[in-house]
Amino acid sequence: MFVYLLLLTVIVTVKAERVPGQQKTDSCLCKVNSSMWTFPAVQFMEVTRQVQVCEEILDEFEEKIRTTNVELPMMEATLKNITARLKAFDYLYKSGLYSALHLRQLNQELEEIHQSVIETHMQNPNKETQDLLSELNKTKHDVQKMYKDDFFNLETMKKRLRDLNNRAQTSKTIPTDFRSSCHQRIMTRISSPVVTKLNSISKSYISGAWGRDALLRDKERYWEHCLVSGHKHGHTIRMYNSYEDFMANKNYKDEPIAPSYSDKNAVQGSGTILYDNTVFYQCYSTAEICSFNITTKATKRMKLDGAGIDNKFPFCYYSCRDWTDIDLEADRDAVWVIYTTVENHGNIVLSRLDPVELNITHTFKTHLFKRSVSSTFMVCGVLYATRYVNTYQEEVFYAFDTTTGQEINSLSLPFEKVSAGIANLNYNPADDRLYLYNDAYLLAYDTFF
Ligand SMILES: *[C@@H]1O[C@H](CO)[C@@H](O)[C@H](O)[C@H]1NC(C)=O
Ligand SMILES: *[C@@H]1O[C@H](CO)[C@@H](O)[C@H](O)[C@H]1NC(C)=O
Ligand SMILES: *[C@@H]1O[C@H](CO)[C@@H](O)[C@H](O)[C@H]1NC(C)=O
Ligand SMILES: *[C@@H]1O[C@H](CO)[C@@H](O)[C@H](O)[C@H]1NC(C)=O
Ligand SMILES: *[C@@H]1O[C@H](CO)[C@@H](O)[C@H](O)[C@H]1NC(C)=O
Repeated sequence: MFVYLLLLTVIVTVKAERVPGQQKTDSCLCKVNSSMWTFPAVQFMEVTRQVQVCEEILDEFEEKIRTTNVELPMMEATLKNITARLKAFDYLYKSGLYSALHLRQLNQELEEIHQSVIETHMQNPNKETQDLLSELNKTKHDVQKMYKDDFFNLETMKKRLRDLNNRAQTSKTIPTDFRSSCHQRIMTRISSPVVTKLNSISKSYISGAWGRDALLRDKERYWEHCLVSGHKHGHTIRMYNSYEDFMANKNYKDEPIAPSYSDKNAVQGSGTILYDNTVFYQCYSTAEICSFNITTKATKRMKLDGAGIDNKFPFCYYSCRDWTDIDLEADRDAVWVIYTTVENHGNIVLSRLDPVELNITHTFKTHLFKRSVSSTFMVCGVLYATRYVNTYQEEVFYAFDTTTGQEINSLSLPFEKVSAGIANLNYNPADDRLYLYNDAYLLAYDTFF
């Protein structure tokens, strides 16, 4: 009698295992050794593939012997069983929650946090760093254990790692008044618009940014930056030496940031901010931050590892402005960059930059999905996020305090706008005002704590 063999091959580290499926009388049976269902994920993928192959061949059988085969239902049941059992893993795999690669990344990340805490601990040993070290010890042990048996807890572990990372970042020395003068106050109210004005260049420039120099407290330096090419690129910034000049569109100076809007130092996207007479922005078509010091005309660049660009991770779902992958903000003594990475699953990553050296001093990872947010701003080391309510209303709904790692999801601070789309929102520590680029309109608000 003709014997049809189905081969189910599973690579188990070094040796291959063969599982025969056999045609008996009118049926075909595929038996899978259940020890193949253990970690790691590559095995599952291989098994999935093989089962699919098996399934295809079985389909052919099914066709041939549909009418006569009495054991077919049994065979189908076996396949259904296999499919049902694979489904869970398939789901985990597709959701990116489960793979050997992720575990390796996890381990690597853990090692980096550990090194960083050891450094901090050596410079300034205290209870927080001590606690962190013992917790890291425990976490490392748990990750090792996950390799063996606890593979469903990967997501929980990632969450734990994120929290540990944020605590490690917070425990690093943070300059002087960063903690003391801000008192972790959370904003309580936003006024009606105190400024509403069309930008001075053109109503057609619906994307850009505007505000007041975040550092120069004595001098009033207002700025306006429009994305003049495809709502994507810009290359000059319009400067005013007083509020009156700004309101009257007069006595301004257009400072060139780059020779043209397609130059490598041109501005991409609407995340721009001005701090210490220096423009901070996403450099043309790269995941890099540029700073252009108007005083010295010097441009610096810094790579932002893993940051999504080119509308990979923009803000917002509705009435959105494109090219909002990277948002720069300023508070008293630092510039912050808000972005996201594949590694953090599209949730907001927040890095603090030293404005003069242009290097990253701290990086925090939040649980806030960047797409669910229409814009962000920073006040005293607290990140705030807004969401779209309707064409004429926006709401601050979330805050993340970098000094405590605490996330507040219950805020509701509404504010008015004149049009649906938000290209840029930034907070100015010099006058406690919020500056909004709302389609072609420039709005400002007073804030209360
Ligand atoms: C299943 O596979 C494991 C390891 O590959 C082997 O030790 C075990 O004997 C197999 N069980 C059966 C029932 O074939
Ligand atoms: C699949 O088969 C195994 C053993 O052969 C059995 O324990 C399990 O309950 C079955 N699952 C389903 C969903 O039928
Ligand atoms: C971490 O664990 C190792 C051994 O596993 C131990 O020697 C070390 O003291 C532990 N460190 C802390 C901070 O608990
Ligand atoms: C810009 O240049 C001026 C003059 O050299 C310097 O004082 C200032 O610190 C620079 N600002 C930044 C952010 O690099
Ligand atoms: C930032 O850059 C300066 C000068 O290049 C360096 O001394 C400092 O250690 C850097 N800081 C970090 C956090 O990398």
